[in-house]
Amino acid sequence: MELTTERLVLREYTTTDFDAVHDFATNPRTLVFVDWGPNSEQDTLDFLNFCTTTAHAVPRTGYTLAIAVAGAVIGSVGLTVHHGTAAEIGYTINPTHWGKGYATEAANALLTFGFSELSLERITATCRPENAASAGVLAKLGMTQTGRLENDRLIRGAWLDSLVFGIDAPKPSPELAPASTCNTQ
Ligand SMILES: CC(C)(COP(=O)(O)OP(=O)(O)OC[C@H]1O[C@@H](n2cnc3c(N)ncnc32)[C@H](O)[C@@H]1OP(=O)(O)O)[C@@H](O)C(=O)NCCC(=O)NCCS
Repeated sequence: MELTTERLVLREYTTTDFDAVHDFATNPRTLVFVDWGPNSEQDTLDFLNFCTTTAHAVPRTGYTLAIAVAGAVIGSVGLTVHHGTAAEIGYTINPTHWGKGYATEAANALLTFGFSELSLERITATCRPENAASAGVLAKLGMTQTGRLENDRLIRGAWLDSLVFGIDAPKPSPELAPASTCNTQ
C-alpha cells in the first residue's frame, strides 16, 4: 500500500531502506523515550523483515510504513490493529527532520486510512509524559488523553509512566445519512 500527503509518501519498507532506518534507529536522540534500540545491524534487518512479513499477512493487522520526503526515508509510522476495530498508532522521525510537522502529517494520513479503509472505531497511542514532542503530535491529531499507566515501560533501565491517548472514528455527517432515515412519512 502507499499513501500520499502534501509533502510525504508513506510506503512499504524494502531491504534497500536499511541505511535510512539504521541511521535513526542508532541515533541516541531518537531513543530517549522508546523501549527499543540502539539497533544492531541484525535488529534493523529483523525490523525490515517484520515489516515485510506483516505487509503480506492475511488478514493484515500491522501497517508499519516508511515515511519518504522527495524519495528519502526520514522516519516510520505504524498502525497495529487489535480486536478488529481498535488500533494503536506510533511514529519515529530522524532527528535531522524534527519540528517540520512530518510526524503529524504522516500520522494524520494513517488515522484517516484506519478510519476510512479499515473501518476502525477507535485509535489509541501512548507516550511518555516527558516526551513533549510526541504529546504535541497527539494533541495536533485531535487525540485526547484518557489515562496514565504508572511504571508502564522499562526504558534504558528506568520504569517510566505512559500517557494514554485516543480518538474515535468521525461520526458520519447528517447530510450523508440515507434518505430513508430522514423520511417521516
Ligand atoms: C515525536 C516525534 C516523532 C515528533 O516528530 P516531528 O516530526 O518533529 O513532530 P511534528 O513536527 O509533527 O510536531 C511536534 C510538535 O511538538 C512540539 N514540540 C517539539 N519539541 C517540543 C518540546 N520539547 N516541548 C514542547 N513541544 C515540543 C513541536 O513544536 C510541534 O508542535 P507545533 O507544530 O505546534 O510547533 C520525534 O520527536 C521523534 O521521532 N522522537 C523520537 C521517537 C519517539 O519518541 N517517538 C514517539 C514515541 S511515543
